[in-house]
Amino acid sequence: MKEKEKKIEEIKKFRKQYNDTHANNYDKEWWSSEDALNEYNGFKKLVHVQPNEVVLDIATGTGTFLIEMAKLGSFCYGIDQSPKMLEQLKQKINQNNLEFNIKDIRVCVADQLPYPDQFFDWVTCIGMFEYYPLEYVKQVFDEIIRVLKPTGKCMVDIPNPYDNKTQNMAWIFKYNLDDFERLIKSYGLKVLARNRAGCMFQYLLLRIK
Ligand SMILES: C[S@@+](CC[C@H](N)C(=O)[O-])C[C@H]1O[C@@H](n2cnc3c(N)ncnc32)[C@H](O)[C@@H]1O
Repeated sequence: MKEKEKKIEEIKKFRKQYNDTHANNYDKEWWSSEDALNEYNGFKKLVHVQPNEVVLDIATGTGTFLIEMAKLGSFCYGIDQSPKMLEQLKQKINQNNLEFNIKDIRVCVADQLPYPDQFFDWVTCIGMFEYYPLEYVKQVFDEIIRVLKPTGKCMVDIPNPYDNKTQNMAWIFKYNLDDFERLIKSYGLKVLARNRAGCMFQYLLLRIK
């Protein structure tokens, strides 16, 4: 296995163990972080899914954002590599009576989505890219583009490389913004909006080809 692929596999393995171990406290810890509300409000500002639209949330975790989209009446699919995070999500689906709108929750990795081509109106991927080098982001975009409808929308976030907080987090990847936006455009995605949310940049993207 090439060095970069090996590194990506190691990160996946570490993140799976980390999230399985922290799943029980994940929501409590996330909501007590100073950026949580900024990120949540930014998401609400950018993502306006319509009733009956079909939505995939990659790395959905405990489903903070998937639940919001299901409440708007869309048909939701969520994947994550951590079974323990998905157990938390399943409890929330049950508590919110969202079984009709949440169609499928699956344990799998972001670079091998178990869905047909051009199936989704929306794909979101929040709070995952920062753990991986840009090579893995490309693998995930290959899959996003495969499953997204020709005029579908997509929302992703990456760390703001100029923010003091992200600069002090040695374990996250900070991409050059020009490189990231060049990558997005190479997939035929147009940037509809860029939102600064705490130490993250959130992107709303439209597939144009
Ligand atoms: C910081 S949490 C974010 C969860 C959720 N998107 C949110 O914003 O609340 C990161 C999630 O990404 C998942 N994850 C990390 N690497 C992944 C991969 N390669 N494929 C699928 N899920 C992954 C983790 O298991 C974890 O649930």
